[in-house]
Order: sequence, then structure tokens, then C-alpha cells
Amino acid sequence: MKTGAYLAGTGFFVPARIVTNQELSELVDTSDAWITARTGIKTRHLIDPKYPLTTVDMAEQAAIKALEDSQTNAEDLDMIVLASASPDYRLPSGACLLQNRLGAKAACAFDIVAACAGSLHALAIANQFLDGKKYKNILVVGAELMSSAVDWSDRNTCVLFGDAASAAVLKKSKNPEHGFVDFDFYADGSQWQNILMPHGGKVQMKGSETFKFAVRALSAAAQDILEKNNLKPSDIKQVIAHQANLRIIEAISDRILIPMERFMINIDRYANTSSASLLLTYDEAKSQGRIDSGDWVLMMAVGAGFVWGVALYKA
Ligand code: ACO
Repeated sequence: MKTGAYLAGTGFFVPARIVTNQELSELVDTSDAWITARTGIKTRHLIDPKYPLTTVDMAEQAAIKALEDSQTNAEDLDMIVLASASPDYRLPSGACLLQNRLGAKAACAFDIVAACAGSLHALAIANQFLDGKKYKNILVVGAELMSSAVDWSDRNTCVLFGDAASAAVLKKSKNPEHGFVDFDFYADGSQWQNILMPHGGKVQMKGSETFKFAVRALSAAAQDILEKNNLKPSDIKQVIAHQANLRIIEAISDRILIPMERFMINIDRYANTSSASLLLTYDEAKSQGRIDSGDWVLMMAVGAGFVWGVALYKA
């Protein structure tokens, strides 16, 4: 088994303001009962308009925590990859703003867009670059100011999202038993109209089409990557899934025969934080002691495009 890079440290940031379903029901025609039953979401963190933060402000806080957790100096970073669909500017990239804030002068920096699957794609990019001699420390960040991306009069979407940033520092694995083992990525551009955000506009989504596609696509991808690597569902200690809807995760758990106790769930507290979701969920699973050294971790994410992917990680 050849292992690639490993997650040397992680961190996340959410704004302090917590918004309940009840508060949203004063804004649009919805209820705590509907949102809880259909999505599993109870609260989300959103920036406070009185103390505005940008995507890069949140990314910086998450990055500082991941650098500390991995005991890495920003000057030693070789690359910064920021996954975001809600960057501060169309140009320059958020990754360049972040490089400047962190003082990571030696790092090249670029953004990628793969919607809610952005940070999984960014992890794979980092893993590939660490497979040679040149790159040693790569910062991956997923950050989203979803409160700026949603239409606050559209109950179909505004209840679903939260603001957050999460980050990881990846390093080349010295221990062959430790690190990323495999990634698989897919895209189906014929589904582009199911989730879209026009220039200057807000997120529009066909919820039930997205729901069904997410369940089918992620279940099939998870089953394929396990089979390809001669692993059984019972070998997986923890599943880190993009948190879009609790019912999507439950349906995947049923199909891939990995019980819900082995899925880290935090959608109830943060809602869907898009590209920030995956590493936020990993960070919480790790800090709650749900992942031990040597455990198999299965990661999965799907987003607008549609794009989706899975990864196998040996902790
Ligand atoms: N409160 C009350 N009723 C609502 C709300 C709300 N907040 N939102 C929608 N409804 C209504 C709809 O209008 C519809 O009413 P109608 O039957 O009178 O037309 C009814 O609820 C049922 O709607 P459905 O879409 O069938 O409900 P469903 O069970 O599919 O749940 C949901 C909707 C939660 C959006 C679900 O489909 C879902 O989570 N989809 C996936 C979303 C997702 O994964 N997004 C991730 C990608 S985002 C990205 O990449 C940026």
C-alpha cells in the first residue's frame, strides 16, 4: 500500500453569531419542525452584519489554527490552495490575499472552485504535489461566506447554509502506514442547472434532484473505492462526509452498509458550509477522539456541477 501526504494539522473558524431555525422562521415562511425534519439542521453560524467578516478573514483564522496544530511556520509553506465559491474578489484569488496575511512569502497560491466538493479536490491537488521532492508543506483551506451567496427571501435555500472556514496543513508522509491512499473524482456537467449562482446573483437550487443525485453518486463512488482497495465497510472507522442534509447521509449509510455511528455529524450546529464542511467535520471528529492512529477514514463530498469525489485516508 502506497500512502501519500498526511494531515499534519487542522483547524476551523466559525463566526460567533448563532442563528436558530426559529429566527429564520421570522424571515421566511418556514418552521423549526420543517427544517429539522427535512435537513437535520438546528442552528448555523452566520457573520454579524455589525462586525462583517469576509471569506479571507475566516480563512485566515482557520489557517492560523492549522499552522499551529501542525507546528508549521507560515514562511515554510510551499503552496496555498483555497477552495471557495464565495471569494472576496473575482481577482486576485483569495489564496493570494491569504498568502499576504499569513506572510507565507515562499508559497505559490491559487483558488479552485468545485462548490461543496472544493476542499476534497484541493486535498487531492496537495497530495499530488507532495508526491515529489519539491513541495513539503501545503496549506489547504475551504472557506465560504454563504450568507452573502443566498437569497434571504428564498426559503428553499436560505435555511440550508452557514458561514465557516476550515484548513489543513499537508506534509509528505514519513510513515508508509499513514496518509492518503486513494482519491476518485467525477463530474456530470449535464446537471449544471441543478445548483447555480449567476454572476452577481444568488444560489438557486433544485433541492430534490440534488438530494437524489447526491445519494446515488456518493454511494456508488464509496462502494467502488472500497472494493478497489480491498476494504470492507466494516474496515472503515470513521466517515467524513460533506454535511448537506442529514437525510442524504442517512441514505448513504444505508446503501454502503456503514452505520450512522461511524459518520461524524455536525450539520445540526453548522448547516451546510459548502467547501468548509469537510475539514471542519474532520477537525471535530479528530478532536472528539473519533479517529485513532491507524484507522481507515472514508471522505466524501458532492457539489454544484455536479462534481463529487471520495478519498481513503489512513490516520
Ligand atoms: N420551509 C418550509 N417549506 C419549505 C422550505 C422551508 N425552508 N423549503 C422548501 N419548502 C417546501 C417546498 O416549497 C415544497 O413545497 P411544495 O410541495 O408546496 O412545492 C416542499 O417544502 C417540499 O419540497 P422538497 O424539495 O420536495 O423537499 P425535500 O424533502 O427534497 O427537502 C431540501 C428539500 C432540504 C432542499 C432537500 O431536497 C435537500 O437537502 N437537497 C439537497 C441540497 C444539497 O445537498 N445542497 C448541497 C449542494 S449546495 C452547493 O454545492 C453550493
